[in-house]
Amino acid sequence: MSDIPDPHVQQDKRDFLKFALFGGLFAWLAAVIFPVLSYLKPPKQAEVIVNSVKAGKIADFANDSGSIIKFGNKPVILIRNPQGEFKAFSAVCTHLECTVQYKKDLGMIWCACHNGKYDLNGRNVSGPPPRPLDEFRVTVQGEEVSISKKS
Ligand code: FES
Repeated sequence: MSDIPDPHVQQDKRDFLKFALFGGLFAWLAAVIFPVLSYLKPPKQAEVIVNSVKAGKIADFANDSGSIIKFGNKPVILIRNPQGEFKAFSAVCTHLECTVQYKKDLGMIWCACHNGKYDLNGRNVSGPPPRPLDEFRVTVQGEEVSISKKS
C-alpha cells in the first residue's frame, strides 16, 4: 500500500469545494439582489375597472370649489362652479400626468408641475398640456352626487 493520495479523490474534493463555494456565493447574491430589484421595480398595479363612484352629498361641495375624487385607481376632479353646477374631469394632466387642481383665484383647472391651465370645460388653454382633460358625467340624485364615465 502506498501513502500517495489518489489524484482522482483529490480532484473530487476540489470539485466539491468549488461547487459548495460558488453555490453559497450564488445563493447569497440572490438573497441580496432579489429584494433590491423588487424594491426598485414594484409589481404593476392591476387596473381597477370602475364605471361609477359616489362622490358625496351636494352640501359637501361648496360653490366655486374643486375636489379630487378617487375613481378606481385614478383621480377625477369634481368642480362646482360659482353658479353651483357640477363638472368632472380626469385629474391627470395631459402633459406629463401630474394631478391637476382647481385654482379658485384664476377660475381654472391648474397643473402645478409646468403651469398648465385648463378652463372649466376641461379645455387646455395655456401651458404645455397638448389636449383637453377627459370629461366624466356628473349625476345628482336627491342629495347624492355621482360621477361616471362618459361613453
Ligand atoms: S404635467 Fe401638467 S403641465 Fe406638465
